[in-house]
Amino acid sequence: MQKPARSKGTCYAETLTRVSAKYSTMRSVRQSYNSWSATYDLVENKTRDLEARACREILSGISFETVIELGCGTGKNTEWLAERAKHVTAIDLSEEMQAVARQKINAVNVSFKLADIKEPWNFAGENADLITCSLILEHIDNLDVVFEQAAERLNTGGHFYVCELHPFKQYAGTKARFETDAGLQVLECFTHNVSDYFHAARANEFSLVRLEEWFDDENQTTMPRLISFLFERSP
Ligand SMILES: C[S@@+](CC[C@H](N)C(=O)[O-])C[C@H]1O[C@@H](n2cnc3c(N)ncnc32)[C@H](O)[C@@H]1O
Repeated sequence: MQKPARSKGTCYAETLTRVSAKYSTMRSVRQSYNSWSATYDLVENKTRDLEARACREILSGISFETVIELGCGTGKNTEWLAERAKHVTAIDLSEEMQAVARQKINAVNVSFKLADIKEPWNFAGENADLITCSLILEHIDNLDVVFEQAAERLNTGGHFYVCELHPFKQYAGTKARFETDAGLQVLECFTHNVSDYFHAARANEFSLVRLEEWFDDENQTTMPRLISFLFERSP
């Protein structure tokens, strides 16, 4: 790397510090979603919209009374879940994303809670018949932490729905990203292979009920955008 030009009266270390500050744009996932919250619902986002369809199609086929929604974001799926459940606990790390959801959703059977799902799940609430995880696991390095706690918080026979960016897309370099006035912001993401989901599920005694791949315009000759899993907590 070329050294930054040394200006009069500025030592090299100071210049280097300023240069690194300018280029170290990697913000935390929480900070990034706080910034993204203002536009998340407003700009075109094929991944967001296709997941809404997947969620409704897969979960229409099962019944549930209590739900824990991990990474509720701006509430894209929260209201739909609340219309079908007795109670939804909607979890997110980003207070700004969740603030958008709180503004949109007045349902009395939704409790919003701020929590990081990589930490112990201390958020109050009963166990659930259904735990959902839409477009969040790409930000989680260790899937086992999530699958283990999901198994503990699910009632026997309960379901764990996971829908994420397809690993094929991840291999091709796609990551969660959004435009800002300062340019494109790319979030910290981790690649998960199909077998990673399967192994995390099996290690925590889930059985796989349904696996689907989701394509833009339902065109199965293209690379799938999303992959969804419906797991069941074994008795
Ligand atoms: C791409 S958005 C998806 C939001 C919503 N599920 C949807 O499908 O539109 C990912 C969400 O996960 C949240 N998130 C990311 N990492 C998290 C973590 N460790 N704990 C809790 N929420 C997290 C983000 O704040 C963001 O709201």
